[in-house]
Amino acid sequence: MTNATEIKPSSAQSARPEWTSHMGFILASLGSAVGLGNIWRFPYVMGKYGGGAFLLVYMVLMCAICIIPLLCELFMGQKYKKAVVGAYESVDKRLKSLGWLNVFTVILISGFYFAVGGWIIHYVLIYFTGAIPHGTDYAQYFNNFAARPVLPLLYAFLFLAVSAIFPYRGVNSGVEKANKIMMPAFLIMLLFLVIISQTLPGAKDGLEFIFKPDFSKFNAEMFLIAFGQALFSLSVGMGAMMTYGSYLNKDTSLVDNSYIIIFGETLIAISAGLMIFPAVFTYGLNPGEGPGLVFVTLPEVFEQLPFCGNLIAVLFFVLLLFAALTSSIAMLETSIAAFRESLNMSRQKATLAVCAIVVVLLIPCTLSFGLLKNIQVFGKTFFDLFDFTSSTVLLPVNSCLLCLIVGWLVKPSDDIVKGNKVLYFIFNILLKYIVPALLLFSILCGLNIIKL
Ligand code: PHE
Repeated sequence: MTNATEIKPSSAQSARPEWTSHMGFILASLGSAVGLGNIWRFPYVMGKYGGGAFLLVYMVLMCAICIIPLLCELFMGQKYKKAVVGAYESVDKRLKSLGWLNVFTVILISGFYFAVGGWIIHYVLIYFTGAIPHGTDYAQYFNNFAARPVLPLLYAFLFLAVSAIFPYRGVNSGVEKANKIMMPAFLIMLLFLVIISQTLPGAKDGLEFIFKPDFSKFNAEMFLIAFGQALFSLSVGMGAMMTYGSYLNKDTSLVDNSYIIIFGETLIAISAGLMIFPAVFTYGLNPGEGPGLVFVTLPEVFEQLPFCGNLIAVLFFVLLLFAALTSSIAMLETSIAAFRESLNMSRQKATLAVCAIVVVLLIPCTLSFGLLKNIQVFGKTFFDLFDFTSSTVLLPVNSCLLCLIVGWLVKPSDDIVKGNKVLYFIFNILLKYIVPALLLFSILCGLNIIKL
């Protein structure tokens, strides 16, 4: 497929673009999956919930359970060749609103994700220009910066503008091209930093922290955290993978690609741990720092590195920026494609409309650390509220409904597992009963209706 198909669409509904190559699809899907979830959240969550034991549960959940909604999203996209609203509408007109709920979810996620994206740009710049002096109290620096009324907002808008350029330009010449450049660059930087980290004296402790399973930590809470992390990290439950699946040609094998995405995504998450923890242990810092790990603990590491600490810091934050950008592009593309098709807008108008909505959400989220810190809804700041509502509630709700709809209404043929009868049987049991039940359980726990 050439770019010509998307250069001048005669109407918003003109021929859909397709990925120009299989690699283009894999890099874009991996780009969507790999993001702050892997580099920023996975390592500290894994550390907190038993290291290797958490990893084990995470991998089993990924391969046996989370593959089902991933497969369903790719399947719906590939089958109906529509973005999320159109795809649900093709199943049944009454399901259109569920499509919009998916769009709502991804836009809510953008609200807090892009705020963090803005912080990352700030850190790239301060390290690049050397504006952060040695001996800084990094926790205080970070808190002061995040609490400022204007600067973080400007950075968040900048992050949004940079992300929006790519979907604005189209699927092949924007989204696919961006991923084809940023993902390989990301992987090279990651590999380089993992190797450097292994040369530090704390490498052994770091490896132990990540891989030594602490089986006493096996419990329902750990299971739920791993489940939520896996769903968020795979970008399912908000139509992103459905949108990317809609640009696939009909012959692409979905099972194979789902496993490639899962394998790549898990490997990258583990690599993030391998990059971060040896350094944290070498300098006797706290691995359980939590969300501040990247913005507070790592700057302390960079300061103490014997050689080129600033250079390594720039590399690390650029890596984080690329990971965040390839995800934010997927988020925007999900809503833009839906607006374009279902509201009959041009791609450019749809991009501007989505950006305008994200700007409105970014304001309360970004200011949650300063001006609006004391404004709480249900005991949460806007940032936490958006995170909780989208990641803990809507994401599993959407995934659960997706499985039920595909399992009971769409009923894919055994082509989905390449005609393997045994696999097809297992797939159906998982799809119709087990995965929806687990998702329902996680929703009820998330809402505190079931107390663990
Ligand atoms: N999976 C991404 C991450 O791990 C987040 C994401 C959510 C990306 C929704 C696209 C859509 O950070």
